[in-house]
Amino acid sequence: MRDTTQYKLDQTKFPVLVQMAETLRTNHRFAADIVERSAALFGEQWAIEFERVLRALFPSAEAITAAVKGYAIFAMHSMRLQAVFERDFQYKTKTHEQASSEVYFNEKHMMQEYLPGLLLSHFLWPHHYRQLQFFDSAFVQTMRVAGATSFMEVGIGTGLYSSLLLRKLPSVRGIGLDISPSSKLFTEAQVTALGVENRYHVELRDVTAVPMEPKTDWLVCVEVLEHLDDPVAFLRGLRRNMAPGARAFITAALNAAHADHIYLYRNADQVLAHLMEAGFTLEQFFVAAAYKPSAPGVPVPQAAAFIVF
Ligand SMILES: C[S@@+](CC[C@H](N)C(=O)[O-])C[C@H]1O[C@@H](n2cnc3c(N)ncnc32)[C@H](O)[C@@H]1O
Repeated sequence: MRDTTQYKLDQTKFPVLVQMAETLRTNHRFAADIVERSAALFGEQWAIEFERVLRALFPSAEAITAAVKGYAIFAMHSMRLQAVFERDFQYKTKTHEQASSEVYFNEKHMMQEYLPGLLLSHFLWPHHYRQLQFFDSAFVQTMRVAGATSFMEVGIGTGLYSSLLLRKLPSVRGIGLDISPSSKLFTEAQVTALGVENRYHVELRDVTAVPMEPKTDWLVCVEVLEHLDDPVAFLRGLRRNMAPGARAFITAALNAAHADHIYLYRNADQVLAHLMEAGFTLEQFFVAAAYKPSAPGVPVPQAAAFIVF
């Protein structure tokens, strides 16, 4: 067992994280020690980043309690679906249109459960946080060295990746695109609270239908492919938004059942095959698993991220 005493959260430095840990311990036993485990795994830098985002988005004790409740509903729902997936090795059949009305255009679910849940998962689920670290070290760092001035993110969801980019690269401007009004609202709240809103704007549109002008040199698209009926058509649409020589950071969730996961990627090679079919060339990739399988052969959620051009 991992020693969860290695890194202790200091109440004076991280009051929001400590409140979140207490709320989980008291109200949501299935995730009772997830904050302490993550802190022990990732240490001080993780705590600093997480505390900053939590303070920005959930500025009162009531807001944190509500976000934690949203996370618990989000996580329990995906655990139930994952149990069915472990038995059937298939996602429940659904179209993008069905997922859109059930999830992306369901404001109450988005604002109270899906977006807070997804946001917390980016820090509380090891494979999600490792993917964020890969983004920071491999993509943001490359943008910094290249003197990037702008970027485009498609499928902003919580807005976490755009916010990180804007904070880490203080002269970069960005545009975020999504189809969900709730994702727009949530992301705008985050960039405003972090004080980077004057370098960013969000548009509600499907870029694969009508490409943006000017084309971007740096594109980010995190966990959208598995939400689509035809990921290759979408990837071709993304390419039409990229200038010659542009780089993209594109990810997909593998073997991860969720209410809006439609296209089942069983391994990273399948995602890479789609990227190549759409005309991309691989530069780097990264894969992380959520946890150890309960038995050999049991599928485990994974995050797969690709830097392509
Ligand atoms: C799992 S979230 C993506 C995670 C997000 N990048 C983050 O960091 O939080 C899926 C998002 O993709 C958006 N989406 C789904 N289909 C889309 C499409 N065809 N074009 C753009 N966005 C889409 C949804 O509205 C939702 O906000």
